Amino acid sequence: MTLIETVKDLRAWRKNAGHVIFVPTMGALHEGHTTLVREARTLSGPESKVAASIFVNPLQFGPNEDFDKYPRTLENDLMMCREAGADMVFAPTMKEVYHADRSIKISESSLSTVLCGASRPGHFDGVCTVVAKLFNLVQPDEAVFGKKDYQQLAIIRRLVRDLDMPVKIHGIETVRESDGLAMSSRNRYLSPAERAQAPALRAALIEAREACQSGVTGAKNLTHLIQEYLAAHANLGRVDYIALVDQHSLQPLDIAHSQSLIALAVFFDKARLIDNIELSH
Ligand code: PAJ
Repeated sequence: MTLIETVKDLRAWRKNAGHVIFVPTMGALHEGHTTLVREARTLSGPESKVAASIFVNPLQFGPNEDFDKYPRTLENDLMMCREAGADMVFAPTMKEVYHADRSIKISESSLSTVLCGASRPGHFDGVCTVVAKLFNLVQPDEAVFGKKDYQQLAIIRRLVRDLDMPVKIHGIETVRESDGLAMSSRNRYLSPAERAQAPALRAALIEAREACQSGVTGAKNLTHLIQEYLAAHANLGRVDYIALVDQHSLQPLDIAHSQSLIALAVFFDKARLIDNIELSH
């Protein structure tokens, strides 16, 4: 596996790489990330190259968010990428990615106004900008994203569509701990008591999906059911949002349909957790 830290070396690598499947990350890797790398390996023929990136993107962190504290575990990340079958990891410094006098950014104005976008202004513009830059740098044929960040995945699909980027986007199922908690670099910020309650997010979403399958399809009823479940099983958390939305447009729905999604975010003391579930009924 090749480690590349500069744009110059990346350009040289790209010239001879052939078909490339790309997994962008911010590091602090866990099994969720390595599943994406393994999936990229499976998707790629023997001739293709699997590339990952590790870059903590300052543009997508709000002023009161955890950019400085975001875990940086490069040595371990590289080991995990190698084990998962990556051929190349691009791990640039900040200076390599962002010019001091940069003045262009990409802005998304619809999908990013709801769900996490509503409570994290500017976050998805930061994501779009860095992903567009990484796509221009790595020039992948395909890229793999997790459904854990469902809104991000929908926005990346829109980015690629609206800007005609020749990259095929794959969405991969959320990888979970054995008790159902979605794996996240931020789970380490949970206290033991919070960690014990955190699987309730997934359990509540499953309850809602089951209710939906047995005919409870109203947004109010479904969100109420989740609220009640969380009040009973995760009282250390504070709900940021619970929403029934369309899987593609992410716009709120009154009634669930076969392409619906329930997404939620819950604040704990030092971590804000997100999860979602696709509904079909
Ligand atoms: P990061 O949070 O490191 O996540 C990198 C990729 O891993 C994303 O596609 C995310 O959805 C996926 N992922 C994280 N946890 C997962 C889980 N439990 N199961 C499945 N996939 C999971 O998302 C970002 O970084 C950044 O916004 C980035 C796209 C790299 C741009 O900076």
